[in-house]
Amino acid sequence: MHLIETRELTHTYNKTIDALKGVNFIAGRKQRIAIIGANGAGKSTLFKHFNGILKPTSGEILIRGEPIKKSNIKEIRKLVGIVFQNSDDQVFSPTVEQDVAFGPTNLGLDEQTIEHRVNEALRLLDIEELRDRPPHHLSGGEKKRVAIAGVLAMEPQVLVLDEPTAGLDPRGVTDLTSFVNRLPEEYGMTVIFSTHHVDLVSEIADYIYVMDRGQIVAKGTVDEIFMQQDLLSGLRLDVPVLPKLIKTLQEKGIDIDMAYNYEDSEKAFLKAFGR
Ligand SMILES: Nc1ncnc2c1ncn2[C@@H]1O[C@H](COP(=O)(O)OP(=O)(O)OP(=O)(O)O)[C@@H](O)[C@H]1O
Ligand SMILES: [Mg+2]
Repeated sequence: MHLIETRELTHTYNKTIDALKGVNFIAGRKQRIAIIGANGAGKSTLFKHFNGILKPTSGEILIRGEPIKKSNIKEIRKLVGIVFQNSDDQVFSPTVEQDVAFGPTNLGLDEQTIEHRVNEALRLLDIEELRDRPPHHLSGGEKKRVAIAGVLAMEPQVLVLDEPTAGLDPRGVTDLTSFVNRLPEEYGMTVIFSTHHVDLVSEIADYIYVMDRGQIVAKGTVDEIFMQQDLLSGLRLDVPVLPKLIKTLQEKGIDIDMAYNYEDSEKAFLKAFGR
């Protein structure tokens, strides 16, 4: 039984806009899954099916083998936490601390547990100093961190991040990368994220789904997907800068192994240049 599974999932907005057209998607435990695709491909629409914000027009969405219904939706929202693309949809309390406490409070946890979870989430997102600030006056990147902290404090088994790096500064992106990489091992979480930032994908993801106009057009490991440079550029997508550079060097006759992330590329360069 999969944690999340969609079967031939379609979603049509206003009876006219086919945003999802027969999507088959699977997420298992402790995976880090990236969904990439051009603007309007259907990533956010797919995410909104993962905890019942949207209902399928046809097809199915199963969470731990069960369709989402009134009787289990509360349980499913505890299990699957979503950080929306636009943080303004998510942060609304008078202070950051209250905002991050909102989810755990709604879960009916006791005060001590709530306090512990809030402190832990603020620490993990490095926003302890924002604790007493009103979230609606924060910068875009700060708001994004608050939104992530709020969902994290609910300790979901699946953390869904829709464009988590949009608006983050370079250090924010690095922090987010190491944070996401720790979640499966340290917290047993599955992370599903969408991004236009392909260099991030190669550092974080175990598995990638490529979407185009409402369909999954490719899926595979980081190597399997990013080796298909022509497919990606045909979809208005890019490959990470390191494999692109290595491919150019290979074409110029330099004997260097292909690599997709920073660590492997460093090894490949050192080997190629005899260091
Ligand atoms: N609430 C809505 N009502 C009508 N159409 C919508 C709505 N939300 C999304 N759409 C349409 O559905 C399609 C898929 O949109 P979606 O937001 O899922 O794409 P996306 O892959 O997340 O894009 P982006 O990279 O820009 O975030 C688009 O054509 C979009 O215009
Ligand atoms: Mg989107």
